[in-house]
Amino acid sequence: AEDGYDLWLRYAPADQARKPGLAAHATAIVTAGTSPTLTIATQEVQRGIAGMTGAIPTVSATIQQGTLWLATPASAPALPIKTDGLGSEGYAIRTTMIDGKAVTLIAANSDIGLLHGAYHWLRLAQSGTSLDKLDIRSAPKIGLRLLNHWDNLNGTVERGYAGQSIWDWWRLPDWKGPRYTDYARANASIGINGTVLNNVNAKADSLTAPYIAKAAALADVFRPYGIKVYLSVKWTAPMELDGLKTADPLDPAVAAWWKAKADEIYKAIPDFGGFLVKANSEGQPGPQDYQRTHADGANMLAAAVKAHGGIVMWRAFVYAHDNPDDRAKQAYSDFKPLDGKFADNVIVQVKNGAIDFQPREPFHPLFGAMPKTPLMMEFQITKEYLGQSTHLTYLGPLFEEVLDADTYAKGKGSTVAKVIDGSLDGHKLTGIAGVANIGVDRDWSGSIFNQADWYAFGRLAWDTSLSAQDIAKEWAEMTFSPDQKVVQPIVKMMMGSREAAVDYMTPLGLTHVMDTGHHYGPGPWVSDLARPEWNPVYYHKADANGIGFDRTKTGSDAVGQYAPPVAKMWANVKTTPERDLLWFHHVPWDYRLSSGETVWDGLIHRYDNGVRYVADMQTTWASLKPYVDAERFAETQAFLTIQHREAQWWRDASIAYFQSVSKRPLPAGSAAPA
Ligand code: GCU
Repeated sequence: AEDGYDLWLRYAPADQARKPGLAAHATAIVTAGTSPTLTIATQEVQRGIAGMTGAIPTVSATIQQGTLWLATPASAPALPIKTDGLGSEGYAIRTTMIDGKAVTLIAANSDIGLLHGAYHWLRLAQSGTSLDKLDIRSAPKIGLRLLNHWDNLNGTVERGYAGQSIWDWWRLPDWKGPRYTDYARANASIGINGTVLNNVNAKADSLTAPYIAKAAALADVFRPYGIKVYLSVKWTAPMELDGLKTADPLDPAVAAWWKAKADEIYKAIPDFGGFLVKANSEGQPGPQDYQRTHADGANMLAAAVKAHGGIVMWRAFVYAHDNPDDRAKQAYSDFKPLDGKFADNVIVQVKNGAIDFQPREPFHPLFGAMPKTPLMMEFQITKEYLGQSTHLTYLGPLFEEVLDADTYAKGKGSTVAKVIDGSLDGHKLTGIAGVANIGVDRDWSGSIFNQADWYAFGRLAWDTSLSAQDIAKEWAEMTFSPDQKVVQPIVKMMMGSREAAVDYMTPLGLTHVMDTGHHYGPGPWVSDLARPEWNPVYYHKADANGIGFDRTKTGSDAVGQYAPPVAKMWANVKTTPERDLLWFHHVPWDYRLSSGETVWDGLIHRYDNGVRYVADMQTTWASLKPYVDAERFAETQAFLTIQHREAQWWRDASIAYFQSVSKRPLPAGSAAPA
């Protein structure tokens, strides 16, 4: 049944017309060596070709017509492709003639590179691309391409909308279910090379011997796929687990505890990646509890893993309950002064925006502001604030928008992508993380379309220059069918879907107006939570006169945290793009938008547009019924019905609330109830 379990690795039977051609390009597979990774690559190609054509490529020692040849310079000294510049994970694919025989050569410096190349070739095969003349070179610019699982040891997943955790802690390490292998296949196919197994709101228990053994078992499954394991740690683990009196990072006993713990982990997992830390954030303990800085904490941990080649990813997602300053400014205020103070195996992990994974946020002001410190991106694949499992809101455009944003840190062209790939400031340690949307649901991600967000994250992590649209296209080709009658409407739906969610949830730069706690559905009226910055009213500041958060000099001056050209643009209401208007400015209800309408009318129109877009997706999807299998068709149709109903709920509730403040009539033609 098409329940989505196979993700984008479906290898569904190709059209009759394509089958012979496909099979002819992989009559045999030649590899040099028998490493587990090469066996995996071979079996994946066999599985793919068998699924698409019915013919199973043989494993051969000699090249014949139609061979797929996987080789490294070490295994084939006379390799007709140069592998310089491909690094340890990249690959080249080229069709060529060898002794009069047509061959497809996949070349790389390592077996992992060959596996990535094999997946690329299978992607082309699945998406209906011609395999006749290939000449491809691809290598990632970002070193660490990680999933962050917010999975708890009790099996729940924080902000998970796809069922319980896939880590079966109870039966690990002895039972390593097949799902772990499929997880590794899916991730390797898009180039993800690391996974943080447990929630950033970590429990100390994850560092006990039994859990280290469980993590080691997973690491054993993932290793041949080129995927390393990492752990989130709780700052006070030395106190909780072994009764130390303090967790002060400058206390020698604390440093010794972490050193011993790291040694213990590396004994079980020799290629363990390192630690991820959420400290002094949302109630988590951290070095500031001992009047030490984030750098003091990070460096102490970094020293513990250094000899083993490990790293520390230190999160910059901080804002304090007793800090009255604009929440959007606090991470910068804490971290900017620490630039240059981190050890060389520390990387600071920064969310894409300064608040929290909203449908739209301006890029985080730390990007470009810490040239002496490697910064890694944290995206959220699980759609905490974008409709969770039922709303179709493709995140590719959100990721792309952030990566392409220009920080102007070193003049025009200093994009966020160049900050995190290390090229702007010459960093070797580089990374990007995505908070996973994976759970035990049959379809892994809570909906078929949510799989596209996992896919897009991996593809962009591998190559930040890819376009969200091209990624949507290849995903749809693999997930549904290479038939463009199916692909084009699906890509169109996907590409506008995030903007539609912005429109029906947080138009014109509004933010964090979701109902509190679960963050699902509207709650712009909520004002009674103990921490002011958890209340939606804190963010929209709507009153009788107007709406929006003044982040210019007359307000919080958050704009002052950006490089001068960017600060200048956002400081001026006239040069602020309308999509960011209410993020940076408090404007009167009568403020005129570029369309000539007032901000009040403009808000209403955007709510209406968002709802209309979802209705259009419903129509498009209905038209695809003849081409999509019944199960996935029905699920998506049902979810779009939910989304449409909830888009209206967002619109109507938001308008009703803001109208109670603005006291304005609805503009003519609005579909919202008056
Ligand atoms: C958000 C989210 C929390 C999470 C936090 C974080 O606030 O709602 O569940 O723990 O981000 O990223 O640490």
